[in-house]
Amino acid sequence: MTSILVLNGPNLNLLGQRQPDVYGTTTLADIEAMCREKADALNVTVDFRQSNDEGALLDMIHAARGSVDGIVLNAGAYTHTSIALRDAISSVELPVIELHLSNIHAREAFRHRSYISGVALGLICGFGAAGYPMAIQAMRDHLEAAG
Ligand code: DQA
Repeated sequence: MTSILVLNGPNLNLLGQRQPDVYGTTTLADIEAMCREKADALNVTVDFRQSNDEGALLDMIHAARGSVDGIVLNAGAYTHTSIALRDAISSVELPVIELHLSNIHAREAFRHRSYISGVALGLICGFGAAGYPMAIQAMRDHLEAAG
């Protein structure tokens, strides 16, 4: 069965309480439930994780090699700072969809640069929590087309 890792980076554990004007009121647990519902509908499995620790995120990406078929990654602020995350994605050679709740290009200039985009299959941003099921759908469609 197709298996997708949904990986969330720093501060995303605070969703629902954190800047609701920017990120909405949906919690990370709500988003996990949305992902599981979408995965069930598509007959794929989802492993849903969050860490505030850059090294832990690197370890999870490394462990994904050979155990999942693709990664949906909301790297939070590490998107804009972490060459290490970019290198991890290049190293594991798995398709990665970069995801953000907010439209990072419509926000502060420091959020316009993403170290992830250049090694990602594609980018979904600006659709809030709804972006997560969109990304699962896009990954499933990509994997199916790639055979
Ligand atoms: C975010 C956007 C990032 O710029 C920010 O640092 C986050 C969340 C998003 O989902 O919109 O933590 O990745």
